Amino acid sequence: MADISIELLGLRFKNPILTAAGPTSRDGMTLLNAAAGGVGGLVAKTVSVKPADVPKPNMAALKEGRVGSRRGILNAELWSELPLETWLEREYPIALSAGLPLIASVGYTPDDVREIAPKLEKAGVQAIEYSTHYVGGHVEIAKALRDAVDIPIIAKLSPKVDVAEVAKSLEPHVDAIAAINTYGPCLRVDIETGKPMLGSEMGHGWMSGSALKPIALRCVADIASTVKIPVIGVGGVATGEDAIEFIMAGASAVEVCTAAILEGDVIYGKIAGQVKDWLDSHGYESIKDIQGVALPHLKQGITLEPPPTVDLDKCTRCGLCEKSCVFHAITVKKKENLFVIDPEKCEGCGMCVSVCPFYALSY
Ligand SMILES: Cc1cc2nc3c(=O)[nH]c(=O)nc-3n(C[C@H](O)[C@H](O)[C@H](O)COP(=O)(O)O)c2cc1C
Repeated sequence: MADISIELLGLRFKNPILTAAGPTSRDGMTLLNAAAGGVGGLVAKTVSVKPADVPKPNMAALKEGRVGSRRGILNAELWSELPLETWLEREYPIALSAGLPLIASVGYTPDDVREIAPKLEKAGVQAIEYSTHYVGGHVEIAKALRDAVDIPIIAKLSPKVDVAEVAKSLEPHVDAIAAINTYGPCLRVDIETGKPMLGSEMGHGWMSGSALKPIALRCVADIASTVKIPVIGVGGVATGEDAIEFIMAGASAVEVCTAAILEGDVIYGKIAGQVKDWLDSHGYESIKDIQGVALPHLKQGITLEPPPTVDLDKCTRCGLCEKSCVFHAITVKKKENLFVIDPEKCEGCGMCVSVCPFYALSY
């Protein structure tokens, strides 16, 4: 049975799935609920010198049409609406009672974090993540934190910067990098009213969820290829396979926000269980066995000599590949148990390989 526990920042996590700063980590009770849902470690909602004045509404689901499947969220939630004192006196102690590693999140300026961080350390949090979402000056904030506390520091990066460059400049000053925060600004309009779906300025919101995942994954790979300190992946993790993808791209652990908003606290344990099952079914013993395995391939590149190989035992003749083959190279007939690729027509685009839910096609 695979061991999915990890050691990160000198802390032991029973699994590599952490909460992320957001509404699903907004206070002590919410973090306790995440612990009950099977999460491996706690990252709390960002706190700052003043409580946030949050616009309403501040969350809108991203879906295909009105009833389509949910792919993510636009949010304009800002940081915690609770005063820092409430976190120090009530919320962190409640969260600590879960017995899991607790990482606080702070923002935003060097002066802000210098004032707040020692109080967080005194409250017993085991590491501090800082968000650079609304301000630049990454190194100045890292230095201010390093001077202010002895516990490990994690810099959380926005996808709008050159993450590899920023990570390199931060490497001497922080213990880990978390990537990424939400992407934006973005917009959604309610077509019944013609109004924006969010109450923020110009209706602007920041995107998270599965639409963010490829951006986050690229950022994690860029950072992991550039620095030696650990990288925590965040952005669109909703399944064990998503988490595996991040770990293969170099992440030591992942944080989950949107999937927990959309699916509830059970999602953490579900993702952790799927990671374990995947490792077991593929003959791996631990997270370390797969960490960063994609990185050398990214440098070398891959190529497909068309057509792709098909494993007819795995193929269920579902026809998804045929539907998405723009070159009309694939013919599938379920009743006749037929699957044919025409090598003359196949251009080697790779779409069918990525579409197949049964991993029946490969390069
Ligand atoms: C409603 C909402 C509120 C968020 N609040 C914060 C926050 O206070 N601090 C922060 O660093 N990130 C915040 N985030 C960003 C998440 O922590 C995470 O980086 C991002 O949503 C991508 O992960 P996901 O796709 O799993 O949601 C927030 C995200 C959402 C959706």
